Amino acid sequence: MNVILDRHERLNTAEIQARLENIDTKEGNFPSSEITEFINLMQVYEGAMYEISTKLEILDGEFQVRFSHDPIHHIERRLKSVNSILDKLDRKELPKNTTSIKDNLFDVAGIRVICNYRDDVYSVSNYLSAQSDIQVLRVKDYIKNPKQNGYRSLHVIYAVPVFLSSGAHYTPVEVQFRTIAMDYWASLEHALRYKSDLPDDRLVEHSQTLLDCARSLQNIEAQMQGIHRDINGAPQGEEAPKS
Ligand code: GTP
Ligand code: MG
Repeated sequence: MNVILDRHERLNTAEIQARLENIDTKEGNFPSSEITEFINLMQVYEGAMYEISTKLEILDGEFQVRFSHDPIHHIERRLKSVNSILDKLDRKELPKNTTSIKDNLFDVAGIRVICNYRDDVYSVSNYLSAQSDIQVLRVKDYIKNPKQNGYRSLHVIYAVPVFLSSGAHYTPVEVQFRTIAMDYWASLEHALRYKSDLPDDRLVEHSQTLLDCARSLQNIEAQMQGIHRDINGAPQGEEAPKS
């Protein structure tokens, strides 16, 4: 069984309501007539996040039984906070209402799948993408095409049906698939970018070192993947899912 880390608080209706009523953003406030709708929407995003993580756990369990191999090291999941949602709408100069959230934000529900090997990233993402009840909305393969700073991960946005009394609501979930090494790297890069008040020259120096680290980690990973392929019959994978 896998470890699932929840990086958000359970939905608290009273708290969301209080926050939406009190937030004073520069681009205007959230309409008070839509607060209930917002809370309902968050509940649907939460459901979508649970649906996808359950699917991932089932796939991981099947791999254990069939190949004696755990493709997933652990899973992290989080719902975007009210503040981050409103900040992102502000940043993108989008209107602040539930329709705008539904139409423009695809990462309100987010899951990070930390896999043991790169083969696992591609096989798990492909098996999930092939499931008949979900749709693949967007794929960004930063493993095949790393970002300039060295960032690697496979990002897939899925739409998954959440069944309410009113029927099926297809809801987007952003899933980031990465290896342990990619996660290790991304955590430090994130800390450097958002949490440091270092002088510019040190930042530049560290960013260059991080780029070197990304390349080294990629090499180490490829070598270890080679050994693992030789001793384990789990599926191999090189291709990202198609959107
Ligand atoms: P926004 O969500 O609007 O920022 O754009 P997007 O969805 O097109 O972005 P993208 O799919 O490239 O990245 C979304 C998420 O991936 C971010 O919120 C981060 O969690 C992660 N990410 C992307 N690029 C980096 C990076 O350079 N470093 C780190 N540490 N994380 C990254
Ligand atoms: Mg995003």
